[in-house]
Amino acid sequence: MIETIQWTDGGVVMIDQTLLPGKEEYFTCRDYKDVAHAIRTMVIRGAPAIGVAAAMGVAIGIAQARPADLDGQLAVISAELAGTRPTAVNLFWAIDRMNRVYREHRHLAYEALRDRLIAEAKLVREEDIEINTAIGRHGAPLVPDGKTVLTHCNAGALATAGYGTALGVIRAAIESGKNIDVFADETRPFLQGSRLTVWELQQDGIKVKLITDNMAGHFLHSGQIGCVIVGADRIAANGDVANKIGTYSVAVLAKENNVPFYVAAPISTLDMTFPTGELIPIEERGAKEVTHVFGVPVAPAGTEVRNPAFDVTPNRYVTAIITERGVARATFEKSLRALVEETK
Ligand code: MRU
Repeated sequence: MIETIQWTDGGVVMIDQTLLPGKEEYFTCRDYKDVAHAIRTMVIRGAPAIGVAAAMGVAIGIAQARPADLDGQLAVISAELAGTRPTAVNLFWAIDRMNRVYREHRHLAYEALRDRLIAEAKLVREEDIEINTAIGRHGAPLVPDGKTVLTHCNAGALATAGYGTALGVIRAAIESGKNIDVFADETRPFLQGSRLTVWELQQDGIKVKLITDNMAGHFLHSGQIGCVIVGADRIAANGDVANKIGTYSVAVLAKENNVPFYVAAPISTLDMTFPTGELIPIEERGAKEVTHVFGVPVAPAGTEVRNPAFDVTPNRYVTAIITERGVARATFEKSLRALVEETK
């Protein structure tokens, strides 16, 4: 299995996703500022992986803090990490979880508190892998046998601590004996589909073909695609889904062609504080991601650009949301609420 992120004695080690597939190199974060830098520059990306990184960022920050003013430093560390990327709610979920554990153990001696936070960050990583395996288990029966699965962006092992959400469902379907292959949208402008999804599926020997984003409609109309499966960065209480830019277009095309559109995501991606997806903050990234490809200009110098990194797919296009606790279908307000409240 690809090791996306690990806690080591030398720091938080991540596979550098900006260099894949050309180079398989690892980036070591030696302090919390390195972790924040890695999230901001997309050395690590994908909602659940960002969450694990943020948890480890808090832990390494406290492990290196002055014991005299821990509360103040935790606030600084948390604010720096929270300011890295706005859309994936797992970032804020992980920071909140670490802050809660800190408060619950604040009475301990510094060394014990530090060790507790490191243990929690490692647990966030381990749990993520278990959660993805459960998502796969729930999702595998939904995947039509003998057909192609279309996916967008990278919601795989690289976007999580391991196994993946959308790609986890694909892995589980194959493990259950289904004969499927994958079409990966290239996912302009950052190319997570071509650089990351194709690479990680090839590592596992899963049959994959790369298509450009504007080919999705053609293939969805062809009858070859059995279902679409994507991940999510934030899901509102009504089932509206924020995911990588271009997801909305694929969802509309899927509905037009009667192809099921599935979203695979952990419960930590549900944001029940947003009744609908309208107010989900959408990250706007730099112009160069659009005007250049690997440093080569593909537009005239000075071209003005819009570069929203995510879009929101209204719930009417979503056939089902696959979580580690089960599959939610419309009416999502009810079905998602039931899944969230399951442990309470
Ligand atoms: O900008 P990115 O690469 O962090 O965006 C990632 C996505 O949109 C993924 O599809 C999403 O986070 C789901 S990952 C399991």
